[in-house]
Amino acid sequence: MEIKITKADQLKAKPDPNTLGFGQIFTDHMFMMDYDRDLGWHDARIVPFGNLSLHPASTALHYGSEIFEGLKAYRRADGKVQLFRPMENIRRMNNSAERLCLPQIPEDVALQVLTTFVELEQDWTPSNPGTSLYLRPFMFGNDESLGVHSVKHATYVIIASPVGSYYKEGINPVRIMIEADDVRAVRGGTGYAKCGGNYAASNRAGEKAEQQGYSQVLWLDGVERKYIEEVGAMNVMFKISGKIVTPKLTGSILPGITRKSCIEVLKNEGYTVEERLLSVDELGEALKSGALEEAWGCGTAAVVSPIGELNYLGEKFIINNGEIGKVTQHLYDTLTGIQWGKLEDTYGWTYPID
Ligand code: PLP
Ligand code: COI
Repeated sequence: MEIKITKADQLKAKPDPNTLGFGQIFTDHMFMMDYDRDLGWHDARIVPFGNLSLHPASTALHYGSEIFEGLKAYRRADGKVQLFRPMENIRRMNNSAERLCLPQIPEDVALQVLTTFVELEQDWTPSNPGTSLYLRPFMFGNDESLGVHSVKHATYVIIASPVGSYYKEGINPVRIMIEADDVRAVRGGTGYAKCGGNYAASNRAGEKAEQQGYSQVLWLDGVERKYIEEVGAMNVMFKISGKIVTPKLTGSILPGITRKSCIEVLKNEGYTVEERLLSVDELGEALKSGALEEAWGCGTAAVVSPIGELNYLGEKFIINNGEIGKVTQHLYDTLTGIQWGKLEDTYGWTYPID
């Protein structure tokens, strides 16, 4: 696909890499292309970063016709910039698009526009430990009418943001509360899709937890409110009596690329990994008996985030003395080692940008 590039007249000053938060600063440019049922994807362009102009009846604003992705570009020690498993994000985006009746982007086109954009903005990839360039592709329905139906017009955009750690705690253990009322998603709904509405609906529980001094919630399934699903906006894993247990992908859980990578690393190293239903009662028993050795969330933004405390029905349980566990630390070191090019990538997961 031909991409028209219009460069910004003035480039912004790069931020202090020591003070980067998450997603507050954006680079000089953004990628955009438009979709029309007759024309398909067209008008691919990289333009100066700026506001979007939307018709007030635009579908995304009324009916939540929006999906997004999140991946990072990492600066290696030799100065090169690389992506981590970008095709996984592209495939997931198309799965999300299918669920929300948004158009598919051919995989080769999605990879081409992503890498062209990253190549142009690669100077924005910071090199301080733990920092990266977070890439946020997103797509929204853009019909200029209020009828409820699948869209005829859509827009695809990629923006980029130099980031530090997602949680202010960094890799330090966080406190998590089990959410008994709100649910994030239901089977048959949109839980496996990365669509904006899932996040809007999860904020109430997150805020309630924060008010009580917790970083995030542990979600239970929406049908029986019995099985563990995810933690905040991350997948969740536990080490119970030496085995790794993670909720299986039932349709209401986002199939995380970090989750998939953790499972592959752990299995490759001889750990037993069980992808299965894990009830809150089983977790409660494991907390009480001490069988629960480690717990962590995993996702692109934080990589892994150890859980140091779980509040279960008002009772507080400290996990692994509130410290990061061995397996959690090992996964962090392995994944970040591959991502930042400090460890040899024997899995073929990295994708260098020329
Ligand atoms: N679960 C939810 C709800 C998410 O938003 C994310 C983040 O993208 C994840 C899990 C982790 O997915 P990944 O590892 O692909 O970033
Ligand atoms: C993740 O990368 O783990 C996320 O959940 C991203 C978040 C900002 C939606």
